[in-house]
Amino acid sequence: MSVVPANIESETLAVGSAEHRHLLGQFFLNTHVEYVPEQMPWPPLAEEELARLRALPFWQEAVSTENVTSNTVAAAAVLEADPLVRKAIALQGFEEMRHARLLLALTTHYRIPVEEPPRFTPRSLESDFLFAGFGECFDSFFAFGLFALARESGFFPPALVKVFEPVMQEEARHILFFVNWVKYRRSQLPWWRRPAFRLRCAWIILKQVASRVKTARSMGKPQSVEAAPSENFTLTAHQDLGTEVTLHRLLQLCLTENERRMAEYDARLRRPRLVPGIARALFRVIPASM
Ligand SMILES: [Fe+2]
Ligand SMILES: [Fe+2]
Repeated sequence: MSVVPANIESETLAVGSAEHRHLLGQFFLNTHVEYVPEQMPWPPLAEEELARLRALPFWQEAVSTENVTSNTVAAAAVLEADPLVRKAIALQGFEEMRHARLLLALTTHYRIPVEEPPRFTPRSLESDFLFAGFGECFDSFFAFGLFALARESGFFPPALVKVFEPVMQEEARHILFFVNWVKYRRSQLPWWRRPAFRLRCAWIILKQVASRVKTARSMGKPQSVEAAPSENFTLTAHQDLGTEVTLHRLLQLCLTENERRMAEYDARLRRPRLVPGIARALFRVIPASM
């Protein structure tokens, strides 16, 4: 099975043009899906399935991440002067809040103990939005592969997969919006401020990479029972999904799933390239048995 090639932009659309700005806002608003977390049809689970679900170590981390992301994104809407783009960011904030509500509904329904963290207040609207956005670019990419793995292995029953499918697709939309917003935002700055913006983005990406390298290096090392669940749980979660998978296979799944999910949207939008690029390079150099 071959791994998908790098994205090819079919038609050029000048970044920062009125068309790009309009497409950015409109694609996001048009692809919003309605659902109410508190009315989800949670499937009944067998004792064994329930125990497996409860044993997953990342619920608390997931709740904390959604708390930070949702409050950061919701607050960031005021950064935008353009009403359409502002509306799209506000909608993304709503969707992130909905993820937090969905997690709360799930953990309540299946009686998974989690503590609700205090509401996160962003300190710097733009920097925090950039940090959350680049973080999602990494986490969502790995989440796509892990979700496919859990679906294929039957770790999650099909009814539960169905509940979470819209959430996965929403994360694909979020990162597609984010990478286009970053380019749009930069294009709106006077030329002399663009290098500093680029540097700030590079610094944030480096911090996100460093944090994931730290997590990757700790993988496989014995952890104490009391150890807090690791950050970047999408990097380690495959160890908990009860199925043997090589890193090579996981990268392949992440790449094909990312491509499949992104294919749903207007080809004129710029695709995320950094994380799939790193994954593709790794996929090529590491042995299939690893
Ligand atoms: Fe989310
Ligand atoms: Fe998101």
